[in-house]
Amino acid sequence: MRIIKYLLIGNKGQLGRSFEKYFGEVGAEYKGVDAEEMDVTDMQSVSKVFDEEPPQIVINCAAYNLVENAEKEPEPAYKVNRDGVGNVAEMCKKHGSFLVHYGTNHVFNGTKGLPYVEEDKTNPLNEYAKSKLAGEYLVKEKLPLNHLILRTSWLYGEGNQNFIYKFLKRCHEGQELVGVVDEFATPTSTRLLVDLTIQCLEKNLKGLYHAVNSGTASRWDWANEILNAVGENRQVKKVEVGYFKLTAKLPKDSTLSNKKISKDLGIEIPRWEDELSNFISDQAYLDFKL
Ligand SMILES: NC(=O)c1ccc[n+]([C@@H]2O[C@H](COP(=O)([O-])OP(=O)(O)OC[C@H]3O[C@@H](n4cnc5c(N)ncnc54)[C@H](OP(=O)(O)O)[C@@H]3O)[C@@H](O)[C@H]2O)c1
Repeated sequence: MRIIKYLLIGNKGQLGRSFEKYFGEVGAEYKGVDAEEMDVTDMQSVSKVFDEEPPQIVINCAAYNLVENAEKEPEPAYKVNRDGVGNVAEMCKKHGSFLVHYGTNHVFNGTKGLPYVEEDKTNPLNEYAKSKLAGEYLVKEKLPLNHLILRTSWLYGEGNQNFIYKFLKRCHEGQELVGVVDEFATPTSTRLLVDLTIQCLEKNLKGLYHAVNSGTASRWDWANEILNAVGENRQVKKVEVGYFKLTAKLPKDSTLSNKKISKDLGIEIPRWEDELSNFISDQAYLDFKL
């Protein structure tokens, strides 16, 4: 039986695509699967992939991330983010594979007033966050010594399912630009998250880490920095989160502290503004005529 180094689950998502790019560049031995090739909610589908080519390391980028939809209809979120993660962890346990999994800043209620550290008590406000936290618990329970959970926030990478793309599209279409001033976290690039993941694996780090760019921002700050990076001079109207009349409650300030991961890796993590500026200048796909 052939044993592969990496199994990349959810290879068509934002983070999954960044891993594919990285693995391609370094010539890593890996198998990438999308939701059709491996539906994490279906144990038979999961076990088939694991049994065919057992992996040494599993990178789970699959998730249900639609916060507002999850509030209105929680079941699909729990199926993927809790039960699906449980299936993957179970198969890792069976085959002795190490599991890398990703968590969210939404596990906190956002009232601390300082960046959240790994030891802080979780208190999720919405169903999406509850489903993601339930997934974290299952990983810890099934693989107590064989996992790495990286919690991240406001992830962006190549593709159109992120704030940057959607914001620039509105800008390009001449629509009114609005930015929320009372929700804070840290925009984090998938490129950084891939890099941190690989460095953690190389250093054999295990357990829970917060993996984000440095600094903090409101959505309004983020929007302005995007305009700045593309050289566009437009006003962004300040609004409060209530403006969008969402059903899901969002944490006010769920900024994560990256001190632990920086210290254990012995690195300084770039500020979000610098990362964003590099991302914008690298991305030919953002060829909007602004
Ligand atoms: N995006 C953020 O701002 C953010 C913030 C904090 C944490 N995170 C976490 O970071 C990780 C990566 O997020 P991302 O932004 O890369 O997510 P993404 O772009 O939404 O990608 C998620 C991937 O999971 C796949 N998927 C969904 N249901 C599946 C199933 N039943 N079986 C197999 N695959 C399934 C999706 O495939 P289909 O498209 O075919 O459904 C998609 O390719 C996730 O754990 C996420 O929760 C993200």
